[in-house]
Amino acid sequence: MPTATSTRNRQRSKEWYQRAQESLIEGVNSPSRGAAVYAPGPIVLERGRGSRMWDLDGNEYVDFMMSFGALIQGHAHPKIVEVVSQTMAEGSHFAAATPAEAEAAERFRSMVPSAEAVRFTNSGSEATMLALRLARARTGRTKFLKFEGHYHGWYDPYCLNGHGHPVHELGPKDNPTRLPDSQGIPAATFNDVVLAPWNDLEALENILRRDGRELAAIITEPIMANMGCILPREAYLQKVLDLAHQYGALFILDEVVTGFRYAPGGCQQYYDLKPDLSTFGKALGAGFPIGAVAGPKAILDRMRWGSGMVLHYGTFNGHRLTMRVVAANFDLLLANNGAAYKQIYAVGDAAIAGLRDIFRRRKISAIVQGFGPMFQIYFTDREAIHDYRDYCQYADTQKYSRFVHGLLDRGIYMTPSNGLHWIISTAHTMKDVETLLQAADEVCAELA
Ligand SMILES: Cc1ncc(COP(=O)(O)O)c(C=O)c1O
Repeated sequence: MPTATSTRNRQRSKEWYQRAQESLIEGVNSPSRGAAVYAPGPIVLERGRGSRMWDLDGNEYVDFMMSFGALIQGHAHPKIVEVVSQTMAEGSHFAAATPAEAEAAERFRSMVPSAEAVRFTNSGSEATMLALRLARARTGRTKFLKFEGHYHGWYDPYCLNGHGHPVHELGPKDNPTRLPDSQGIPAATFNDVVLAPWNDLEALENILRRDGRELAAIITEPIMANMGCILPREAYLQKVLDLAHQYGALFILDEVVTGFRYAPGGCQQYYDLKPDLSTFGKALGAGFPIGAVAGPKAILDRMRWGSGMVLHYGTFNGHRLTMRVVAANFDLLLANNGAAYKQIYAVGDAAIAGLRDIFRRRKISAIVQGFGPMFQIYFTDREAIHDYRDYCQYADTQKYSRFVHGLLDRGIYMTPSNGLHWIISTAHTMKDVETLLQAADEVCAELA
């Protein structure tokens, strides 16, 4: 029986989506936002405040997607609004030296343990692109290793085995079949990519024995965030770092999702790692477009102008408005002895525990993976999803989509794609968790 909330009117969303499709492919600017994910069509959003958003028809949602994690301070945080208004009034960007970029960089260095220096880009994709260029210049090698199911942005060589596939297409673990994520990329580009399954040291060691000496870098997400939320096995990341060094390759930690989220210094602080290079984005800009590469001066200094330099240009690099937001965001995250992190962890852990309890009570085969700031639900009989192959084989992504559509009808906003993850911002409260759990319980009653 439909509840009052499940009869939500989405008429204006429908009309707007029709209109947008005349000018925009799929009516949006990224396939992750269109009908392929939100069938029959996206909910068109109008405004947000704190943990809440409203669509064109006036329906209210608690937002647990938070701009794919970018909105670590929630929507329209008053401090961010103030900084943006003030900075805009002075001039948004000069593409020239400003105190704002040095102030943001100083705070960045004080937060991220491995950041002797930082270079700001405009997106996570630009950051991972630059990190690879730096690693290649540093080592004089061309190939690099990426893990199955990891996403590092849409730069050509990273677009391999990033999407889910039936498990019979994946090939042997120590020589995975190459499955490009996109047309339009020269096949030769992928000759420089070595693929490995994640969370599996034996397979990695076998692959490195074959290809390790040719690698400029191993790049990894610390927590696999683009097949949901998959945690590294005990000591796994440190071992990958050691193996990279054993073969003379750099270890690039892609913290675009995890940076500033799990701790002020991201997962490298949480797991006590010293990556050679790390990349950031999303939460760094509290909703503004940004990315960053951080590491030792010995590596980043290669960008200094002169012969043998590593080129990195960009009109909008160190955008003044964004730099001011970055600094304000850091100040908010560090205020009151990091109270923001305590709040994020408490709220996230309560949501995770509540969801687990509902699945248990309702006898639904589902698990919740993650802790604190980020988690994902998998409808599965397995006790855990450890890697891409588990995800492809054991996660019932259709059921997840039905579950999320049920939540959307009850005022909880989340993407129906199982490959993403639930995000807790500083704006979320225990009240939001209550709202989520009540809606989840109702949907589970229908799913069971
Ligand atoms: C781990 C990781 N790296 C890089 C990127 C690319 O970042 P952006 O979307 O800002 O280009 C993403 C985006 O989702 C990501 O999840």
